[in-house]
Amino acid sequence: MLFLGIETSCDETSMAVLDTAEGVLSTHTASQADIHNLFGGVVPEVASRNHILKLEPLYEKCLADASIRPSDLDVIGVTNAPGLIGALFVGVGFAKGLGYGLKIPVMPVNHLSAHILAAELEHKELKPPYLALIISGGHTHIYDVDAALNFRLVAKTVDDAAGESFDKVAKMLDLGYPGGPAIEKLAKSGRGDAVPLPLAMKKEDNFSFSGLKTAVLNSLNKGIYTKEDLAASFQRTAAETLVLKTMRIARRLKRHNVVVSGGVACNGYIRETFRNSCKKGEHVYFPSFRLCTDNGDMIAYAASRFYSRRRFFSLEGTAYDTQPE
Ligand code: KG4
Ligand code: ZN
Repeated sequence: MLFLGIETSCDETSMAVLDTAEGVLSTHTASQADIHNLFGGVVPEVASRNHILKLEPLYEKCLADASIRPSDLDVIGVTNAPGLIGALFVGVGFAKGLGYGLKIPVMPVNHLSAHILAAELEHKELKPPYLALIISGGHTHIYDVDAALNFRLVAKTVDDAAGESFDKVAKMLDLGYPGGPAIEKLAKSGRGDAVPLPLAMKKEDNFSFSGLKTAVLNSLNKGIYTKEDLAASFQRTAAETLVLKTMRIARRLKRHNVVVSGGVACNGYIRETFRNSCKKGEHVYFPSFRLCTDNGDMIAYAASRFYSRRRFFSLEGTAYDTQPE
């Protein structure tokens, strides 16, 4: 079967064609990062308008690269939650119009489930049950995924998301947007133990990143630390928090496989810290960098994984900015 995946939840317009027998046939992403960089963060209205401009050309390119015609498509999967509501509406409207025109079903896909399932695309041996940590600009959530593909929320941030804290700390250090890659680069020349920073809510499952962000700001204002040391110490504390809580929950729930996904999972230091924490028999899986950030592949794949549930959009189907729990 051929699935078209459409992703427009934030500042990336992305689309992919997935053949359930052959894998991903084509994929294209139009990033708006350069545009939003001018504003120091994502401007929702600007994001929506750019999705409108990009969807049609991406669709043409995806079909041409996959050497298929529109009538070859069997199902459309589209992100409908969570994300920027205007941006989601653009993708959902496009998908529903296309599905209606082609007379094929359109499936609403949860963005977070798709980020998690992305790990299965490149690790064929990986199948649920597993524990999944999703770390992105908007979310820091841990889900327990059972063998029947049910997602149970186990822990989440009570304030800032991990990616948001990278972006805010980067802003304090004048590193631009998105901040994660800039912090990682600068941290390479700094010492992770140079600045004493708190590891918040150590004993609890839930995360908190806003205190860490404030602690970095207070340390910066003291004027005695270099930006490199601040970046490295922040990154180390963030990584240790993520690993400590995720692996503790995995061991408690007896999950030997752990998936770490979302934009922040591109961070090499965080990957290394997770790998070093594994005991015998434990495995941590990361999607490749391209599949950690927003992409159409994961939406098409998630649609294919949930297809047997036959939950399709009606014409009234819509998008939601928050994560249904
Ligand atoms: O998953 P994603 O592409 O978009 C959503 O938020 O859904 O994640 C974007 C986030 C941004 O906050 C960005 O700063 C962060 O991922 N990020 C990183 C790195 N690359 C991207 N954070 C830390 N280190 C990185 N190398
Ligand atoms: Zn995302």
